[in-house]
This record gives sequence, structure tokens and C-alpha cells, in this order.
Amino acid sequence: MSSFGRVYRVTTYGESHGKAVGCIIEGMPSGFEITQQQIQYHLSRRRPGQSSLTTERSESDTAVILSGIQNNITLGTPICISIANSDTRSSDYSQLSAFPRPGHADFSYRMKYGCNAESGGGRASARETAARVAAGALAINYLEEKHGILIISWVESVENIKLPEDLIWTDREEIDRLGSIEITTTENGDWFYKNCEGVSIDKDGNIINAEIEGQREIVNTRCPNPDAALRIAKKIRDTKIDGDSLGGIIRCKCYNVPSGLGEPCFDKLQALLAHAMLSIPSTKGFEIGSGFEGTHMLGSQHNDCFLNSEKGLFPMTNHAGGVLGGISSGATIDFRVAFKPVSTIKKPQLTAKWDGDLEVLEAKGRHDSCVLPRATPIVESMAAMVIMDCLLLQKMQSSS
Ligand SMILES: Cc1cc2nc3c(=O)[nH]c(=O)nc-3n(C[C@H](O)[C@H](O)[C@H](O)COP(=O)(O)O)c2cc1C
Repeated sequence: MSSFGRVYRVTTYGESHGKAVGCIIEGMPSGFEITQQQIQYHLSRRRPGQSSLTTERSESDTAVILSGIQNNITLGTPICISIANSDTRSSDYSQLSAFPRPGHADFSYRMKYGCNAESGGGRASARETAARVAAGALAINYLEEKHGILIISWVESVENIKLPEDLIWTDREEIDRLGSIEITTTENGDWFYKNCEGVSIDKDGNIINAEIEGQREIVNTRCPNPDAALRIAKKIRDTKIDGDSLGGIIRCKCYNVPSGLGEPCFDKLQALLAHAMLSIPSTKGFEIGSGFEGTHMLGSQHNDCFLNSEKGLFPMTNHAGGVLGGISSGATIDFRVAFKPVSTIKKPQLTAKWDGDLEVLEAKGRHDSCVLPRATPIVESMAAMVIMDCLLLQKMQSSS
């Protein structure tokens, strides 16, 4: 099915080479002020063709609000947002129609539906995620404004290039920062941490002490460290020239999420987040808190002991990743999502065609060589949808 969420329920529609993609959102509270620009901001961070590191397909991804919002105020009725597909190039796919692309969804779609979209990836294309980002933008704005919840993700690694260890915030630092996370955005809608090493920002949001090239690559890669960003950008460009592709890891943190969200059994908060994240195309892994690394620790090391803070009891460390027993504890929700290398590559691959003959496929067309930089807004949007859904459900369930 193409719907997600119980109370904040999002349905997406559209194929990558059809007229448009879009979403219908149910459950958005009425009377909330939101502008088209606030939605557009998130879409612009996901849109293809935004830098030399992404696919050359160039879409403005303009959000057209068809219903549910009047004079920038939500009506409480279904919100429909449409995003036109304007830069499709079906001819690129004439060569591909002879093959099920290795690693892509062509084969399994044919097995399920008996047919494939004539060109493009249809619903398997990441084009569908533009609709998710539009729906996520409403949730992000609502959560920030009404509840002070801040959801931020960044590229932690691409292939074997990782953010330096000291940039991975420790949980003690997070306790210090609680309620005082400062971010700022640039004109073209990208974010920076003010407190990120090597990057300072003036009052207008301009970077003042990083190398020009490093600044640009931070924006392009969404990796908040000039050195790692430069190396990642170079790696993506070199790999693209080579006709190959790369994967990596996105880290996401949700700050100021109240305790009590999530359900004790099947709809555990981490299960909903895993569902949301693994529904993003190209994802291969999800881990929350200590994740797989936690298996190397002893219980005495892994347990997050409590501290009595101004805000009440609070875990001193965050190996749990902000969820205990499927329910948010009030600590920062902290998870990672693994993305595989993109499947459509120019490099020759020997593979069977639909007719069974083995042939060398050198895929033409415009494709991302690494989806990570464009995927951060998708991760944030899906996280916002989950938290919004849990929050609205909790409001309905609680007596106060
Ligand atoms: C932001 C983003 C951009 C993507 N761009 C491409 C692309 O240009 N070419 C491609 O083959 N796959 C791309 N993908 C991945 C495919 O959509 C995905 O691999 C395919 O649907 C198969 O699904 P699976 O990898 O989840 O099994 C992209 C994914 C994301 C998240």
C-alpha cells in the first residue's frame, strides 16, 4: 500500500516519468500556519540537479498545494500537494527496457505486477520521495513550532570516509546542549551547526572561517565537517567518472522529543522508525542507539544510568537511543540508516536480459552516483512523520 501512519496518515502517488508525484495528508491539525515556502525549503534540499554530486535530472520540485490549506492556514481537511515531473527523458530508458537492472526493482516489479512503467523507475524511483518530503515538511514545522522538537540528519560516512570521531557528539554534551541546540540556515536552504568544529557562521548565516571549497562541499555533501566533506565530494566525483556508485550512512537525531511516545508491543517507537527508514529506497540497515556496536559491550557499560537534572530524571548516556520498551524516554532519539551504492551504473556489467540472453549492460541516463546527500531531508521527513503520528496518538490516548 502507498499509505503510512495511523493518525498523521500520508498517501503518496505518482510515477517518476508520469505527470506528477504528490501526497495526500490526513490528520494534520487545523489552524496551523504554514506557507508554500516552508514546504519548498525541504523539497529544495532533496531536489535532483542541485549540485555536481547529484543526478543531472533537473527538477524545480515546486510544491503546488491543491487542498487543505487556505491563506496559509491548515483547514484540518485532507491536504493534497502535487509536484510536477518536468525533466523526464524517456529515451534514456529504451536501452534499459531490455534488461532487469541488477540491484534495481525492475525484476521484482515485473514478478509482482506483470509489467513495468514504460520508462523511469516508476514507483521505485526516488522521485516518489519528493512527496514524502512535502508531507514531512508540514510535520517538521508543526513539531518544531508547537513542541520544540528538532529533527536533524547528516551524512556520517560515504564508503570508508567517516566524520572524525570528535564530531560525533557524546551524550553528555547533549545533556549540556538540551534546549539550546543552535542551527542556522543559508539562503539556499541548507543547514549548519553553529558549534561545528572548523565552521563558524555570522549573523546572516554566512560561513566565516572555513575554506571556500570546504564550505561548498559541506552544502553539497551534507557532511558537517569541511575536511570530510571535501574528501567525500572528491570520492563521489571520481566514482562518477568511473561509472560506478557509492553507499554510506546517515545519522539522525531528534531533539526534545517528549517521553511517552510509542507503544509497548507491535508499534514500538523504534519499530515505527525502522519501518519508516527502511521504506526509503536504497536503504539496507537501521540501528538505534548503540545498535550493532552495543553487542560488544557489557550490561554494566551499556546501561544508561539516570541523573537528576532540572528536567527530572534523565539518562546520563544514550546507548538506548532515546527509546526504552518501545516508548520515548525523553532522551534524544538517535539512529543511523545505511544506504547501499546506487544500482544503475555506467560501468559494464554482464547480466541476463528479459529474454534470457547474457549481455553487457552499460546503463545510460542520468543517475545519482551516491544518494546520501539528497537523502538527509527524506530521513528527516520520515522521522517527523513517525513522531507526529505518535504525538497525535498520544494526545488522543492521554486523559489530560
Ligand atoms: C535520493 C535517492 C536517489 C536515488 N537515485 C537513484 C538513481 O539515480 N538511480 C538508481 O538506480 N537508483 C536510485 N536510487 C535508488 C533506487 O530508487 C532503489 O535502489 C531502487 O528502487 C531499488 O530499491 P532498493 O534499493 O530499496 O531495493 C535513489 C534513492 C534515493 C533515496
